[in-house]
Amino acid sequence: MKVLVVGSGGREHALAWKIAQSPRVQMVYVAPGNGGTELDPRLKNVPISEPGWLAQFAIKEGIGITLVGPETPLAAGIVNIFREQGLKIFGPTKEAAQLESSKDFAKAFMKRHGIPTAEYETFADAEAAHDYVNRKGAPIVIKADGLAAGKGVVVAMSLDEAHAAIDAMLSDNKLGDAGARVVIEDFLDGEEASFIVMVDGHNILPLATSQDHKRLQDNDQGPNTGGMGAYSPAPIVTPALHARVMREIIVPTVQGMARDGIPFSGFLYAGLMIDKNGTPRTLEFNCRMGDPETQPIMARLKTDYLTVLEHAVNGTLDKIELEWDRRTALGVVMAAAGYPEAPKKGDAIHGIPAETADCVSFHAGTTIDNGNLVTSGGRVLCVVGLGDSVKMAQRQAYQAVEQIQFSGMQYRRDIGWRAIKR
Ligand code: AMP
Ligand code: GLY
Repeated sequence: MKVLVVGSGGREHALAWKIAQSPRVQMVYVAPGNGGTELDPRLKNVPISEPGWLAQFAIKEGIGITLVGPETPLAAGIVNIFREQGLKIFGPTKEAAQLESSKDFAKAFMKRHGIPTAEYETFADAEAAHDYVNRKGAPIVIKADGLAAGKGVVVAMSLDEAHAAIDAMLSDNKLGDAGARVVIEDFLDGEEASFIVMVDGHNILPLATSQDHKRLQDNDQGPNTGGMGAYSPAPIVTPALHARVMREIIVPTVQGMARDGIPFSGFLYAGLMIDKNGTPRTLEFNCRMGDPETQPIMARLKTDYLTVLEHAVNGTLDKIELEWDRRTALGVVMAAAGYPEAPKKGDAIHGIPAETADCVSFHAGTTIDNGNLVTSGGRVLCVVGLGDSVKMAQRQAYQAVEQIQFSGMQYRRDIGWRAIKR
């Protein structure tokens, strides 16, 4: 079978890499892909991004299943377009993708279905928003309603910061339409974890747990990023907590969407905040896999992923179980100079070690320029190590990271610290 993976990041490289391991896969196309997917002989880059043209490509090439990585094409309705043409695709429809593409939709949905999350109100009017934060006090969290590529959330530790965020989004239009409405919600304290499941509209198949590192620098300092590293499993998610998250958050979400007439299919990613009593609350939903969480998760998956995807698009996810490598996988993101504000591009990358049973480097912001591998985006690589403990996985990953060179590279040296501290 031929498979199409839509996207160009480290997440898509990891998904395509995993799918290509299936003996029944003829070719995995990646649209548009990156330097790493171009270098892998089992993968083929396709220079198309527009959903309608991708559907035409899928018909012409006889693609059996399409898998969508990022949220933007999902929110634009790529799943609706493919299904109208009778094509099999794994992901949520445009309507279901609102769980991620509109914070207000997600919050109202959670409230209606009793899913634990922070208290909130939504505002389009700046004056009313300023009044609300004055009443509530700091810390408080201001979120743009729409998709803002990771720039839409301000965790305001002071009232001044909160007022400035409201002005930037509602008065000065800094985020465009995405910030035309804001959700203002209570600050939640605790430890975050990523809880990702596959859903076929009805059945739920949980993936391995994981934890991300959002801040740019060691000790969780510096600006928020898309994620500077991740590992799987996340020891904070004990079997008891796992069962509780399924019971209180995931199952009610999938059933609630079906009841509301918008059945959810695709990856459902609940970003959790777990407080000091072990109570989980939902910070956000994503309707896709996490990046970089996907990279360590796929590095641990043993089950043939083509078979899993077939069950996913045929509505039979209840018929399959996943088998995981018992080791920890830990991924370190290597980012370009200037990331996240203004990443530098075009620097030559050297020294990426060959894949082994304990280490694999997934590409994100890379491209091939005149036969040379160069940087082309903010997050350049995610180097994943596997080991019998978090420490051993960490050692594997950093041994590889230390061999890699590009001008101005930035990476954290403490990925996995929370798990090691336990
Ligand atoms: P989101 O895109 O909604 O997940 O927000 C991005 C990041 O902001 C999260 O990963 C958290 O670190 C932080 N955050 C979001 N909402 C809250 C909240 N209610 N309380 C504390 N931190 C939050
Ligand atoms: N790593 C966080 C995300 O993918 O949203």
